[in-house]
Amino acid sequence: MKLCIIGVGYVGLVTAAVFADFRNFVWGVDVDKQKIKKLKKGEVPFFEPKLKELISKNLKNKRLIFSSNIGAAIKQAEIIFICVGTPAKENGDYDLRYVFEAAKTIGKNIKKYALVCIKSTVPPSTTEELRKIISKYCAAPFEMASCPEFLREGSAIDDSLHPARIVLGVESKKGKEMLLKLHQQIKAKKYIFNIKSAQLVKYAANAYLATKISFINSIASLCEKIGADIEQVTQGLGSDPRIGDQFLQAGLGYGGSCFPKDTWALISFAQRIGYDFKFLKEVDRVNQQQIDKFIEKILQICKGSVRNKTITILGLAFKPNTDDMREARSTLIIKKLQKLGAKINAYDPKAVVNAKKILKNVSYFNELMPALNKSCLLVLVTEWPEFRKIDFNKVKKIMKEKKVIDGRNFLDSKKLKALGFQYQGIGRN
Ligand code: NAD
Ligand code: UGA
Repeated sequence: MKLCIIGVGYVGLVTAAVFADFRNFVWGVDVDKQKIKKLKKGEVPFFEPKLKELISKNLKNKRLIFSSNIGAAIKQAEIIFICVGTPAKENGDYDLRYVFEAAKTIGKNIKKYALVCIKSTVPPSTTEELRKIISKYCAAPFEMASCPEFLREGSAIDDSLHPARIVLGVESKKGKEMLLKLHQQIKAKKYIFNIKSAQLVKYAANAYLATKISFINSIASLCEKIGADIEQVTQGLGSDPRIGDQFLQAGLGYGGSCFPKDTWALISFAQRIGYDFKFLKEVDRVNQQQIDKFIEKILQICKGSVRNKTITILGLAFKPNTDDMREARSTLIIKKLQKLGAKINAYDPKAVVNAKKILKNVSYFNELMPALNKSCLLVLVTEWPEFRKIDFNKVKKIMKEKKVIDGRNFLDSKKLKALGFQYQGIGRN
């Protein structure tokens, strides 16, 4: 099939590469000319395992083309995917301007029938607004559809090839058949829903996962008060198949480009249609509070003050296996510690370049050990696998004070304590 992917960020790029690999003919287009220039040379603008290889392969066999000529890409397409960003505004409300802009471009360029499929995460009222915008400029017949994306950064290719399910929002038999044909090589249950339901599934999924995280973080707070261990409680809880053991990792709360913005968007959307989503507001509040509690822990272990103390932050990305710093928990923690007078050393295997754009007055390190030299406290923020291999025998010789706070309960607490470190995790006695 001939596809046009508008917006080649995380989602658009993965979608373009995967569908090209399924032997479709795919144009990936973007308003960011620099990005397109890099992509044409096979350079991927962010870190995502397996993506570069898939793009190179399909650029070579000419099934994948990157271009800034969005009009030309739209004209040839049978299915047009909108994959542009839907960020949050300052006040948490959703900002749909990129989707509206993409719709205008589509309207101006469709010359024959096309299926316009929204992959960006949008509130369920958006389809009608997009239909109006496209119709205003376009005489050719077109149909709307929705194909919400559930991939996770860091495992985006595997998630796209082996998703838990595929949700397709359609409004006609033709739209349904086109999307089923496109997804036929993916062996996952396909749900055909109306467009609004499909879009609500996406928000509900992210809000529910965020809820699990805030729930377990609340239980972790109880653990700290009574001397229980959250790791044990989670094991016991998650072994009930009705509950499941995923997304119950207590820690610093959720960050990233989606959970925070999508919970805020759902709260805003609900407000607009007359429903006060108090429950989700509380999920968000717990998530924000998690950072304040963590700062209190740091102050406590530092005997009340971090002024002029060097604190080493291990892990800056919002989660491991990505260089994405959007809504990373490290940002909030570092800014608060800086306000309290701390000097910050930071190390991350992939995210330093992006972190430098948003966090100033931080000493960044390209290697882990030098970042810990003369440090008063090690703070683990992102659980990169390489942190499990840290040689704490060496660390104890170079740190000024043997103190560790583990924001993800990732390190071996027994081993650390045996080596004479003062260790604190989340929800652990
Ligand atoms: P992104 O910011 O990485 O990429 C968006 C791209 O769209 C950018 O390259 C931008 O230049 C381009 N763009 C903006 N306006 C354009 C226009 N008018 N025409 C052409 N290109 C335009 O965003 P992302 O992380 O890929 O997210 C995209 C959407 O997918 C969002 O709605 C997001 O919520 C959703 N989503 C993201 C993920 C994820 O893991 N990142 C997962 C599932 C769903
Ligand atoms: C999330 C969803 O998992 C995807 O299904 C969805 O497509 C995507 O959002 C989206 O809509 O963009 P992602 O943001 O890449 O994917 O990352 P997750 O692995 O879900 O983690 C999100 C945040 O939750 C991270 O900060 C992570 O550290 C935190 N988290 C996750 C926890 O604190 N505890 C857990 O048990 C799991």
